[in-house]
Amino acid sequence: MLSTLHITSRHAASRQSGMGVLIATTKFASTWAKVPQGPPDAILGITEAFKADSFKEKINLGVGAYRDDQGKPYVLPSVRVAEDKVVKSGLDKEYAGITGVPSFTKAAAELAYGADSLAIKEDRLAITQTISGTGALRIGGAFLERFYPQAKKIYIPTPSWANHNAVFKDSGLEVEKYRYYNKDTIGLDFDGLVADLRAAPAKSIILLHACAHNPTGVDPTEAQWRQISEVMKEKEHFAFFDMAYQGFASGNADQDAFAPRHFVKEGHNIALCQSFAKNMGLYGERVGAFSLVCESTEEKRRVDSQVKILVRPLYSNPPIHGARIASTILNDPALNKQWLGEVKGMASRIIEMRALLKQNLEGLGSKHDWSHITGQIGMFAYTGLKPEQMEILAKEHSVYATRDGRISVAGITSGNVKRLAQAIYKVTG
Ligand SMILES: Cc1ncc(COP(=O)(O)O)c(C=O)c1O
Repeated sequence: MLSTLHITSRHAASRQSGMGVLIATTKFASTWAKVPQGPPDAILGITEAFKADSFKEKINLGVGAYRDDQGKPYVLPSVRVAEDKVVKSGLDKEYAGITGVPSFTKAAAELAYGADSLAIKEDRLAITQTISGTGALRIGGAFLERFYPQAKKIYIPTPSWANHNAVFKDSGLEVEKYRYYNKDTIGLDFDGLVADLRAAPAKSIILLHACAHNPTGVDPTEAQWRQISEVMKEKEHFAFFDMAYQGFASGNADQDAFAPRHFVKEGHNIALCQSFAKNMGLYGERVGAFSLVCESTEEKRRVDSQVKILVRPLYSNPPIHGARIASTILNDPALNKQWLGEVKGMASRIIEMRALLKQNLEGLGSKHDWSHITGQIGMFAYTGLKPEQMEILAKEHSVYATRDGRISVAGITSGNVKRLAQAIYKVTG
């Protein structure tokens, strides 16, 4: 589109002659003059405020990335070993296929569905490597928008990961909500959830967080998952799982994959998004996978061909380095064992920090019931604090987190937990 042309006249002083001369200049209004200022990203805004705070004992609980007990980013030792192996193997840097590094996707499927999964054994799982979990959601959203016959709407929980709404809208789907969290109990609104699943039109697409629900840390129990599966079967709903935290929640990768595996066993042909950002600490490497359980090998081939047609014009094919690291870890039995131990270590530190925070709050004499802190699971705790209280935490105590009361437990350390508890106690009583 052409920019609007403005012709303006102005007096310009000729530097050389020092004489005033009338020069007609042409000035284009910028093509982007009407682009409105967008709101800042909520999480990045917190990081900015945190950085600007000069207080030495400031605490950042906004970012969803694991920190060690010194509050430092953590590169898993198994990742270091795998990366060394990848570099030393002197592989070339040719393009991967459209669906990525095959040794990675095969191993990722086994990690998610279980090595004994019938869908894998019967060769009816379509899987593609993706740009981490976000990319998996985006490819999944686009595939459903193009091919899911019964609906162009996806139901996500209230609340859900802040990016779900945008990812699915940009995929061309309409986004609807179902009840999930009960703010009075700071727990699961199971009745509301089931009622909303029943009320949704038959064959609706339902997004489910496989484990470590973000932002609430509230997961259904196994018994509740079984019921959700039953209701979804009755209603013929389509289960779209987002599993961004396998292993990171309980410390056990099989336990965390209970829900998707149970659904598959029950005959749901699910969609599944995987991320290796948290459980391998490969945040910036962008390693993930999107898979669809199909009815037959023949159906899988057709689905696979269409996934390729979707991916090709988006980014052509995924990056190889991170996938090679993940593949090395998943396919080497000794490294795999080491990695599972390290995931357990991260999960255990988070579980320990939850317990310490609760203990410190109780030790200060807080009259509130803080059992939800230890009842919830995964990287985030939903404290139940109100936006005004979160503001006071930031302004008066240099404790930074999102306004919805969500704190990243990964940012708590044995060194800062006492001060954090004191700050929360001062704000809540
Ligand atoms: C629920 C959920 N899904 C997906 C993602 C995607 O993360 P990534 O794209 O870094 O793998 C996240 C990250 O925080 C998440 O919490």
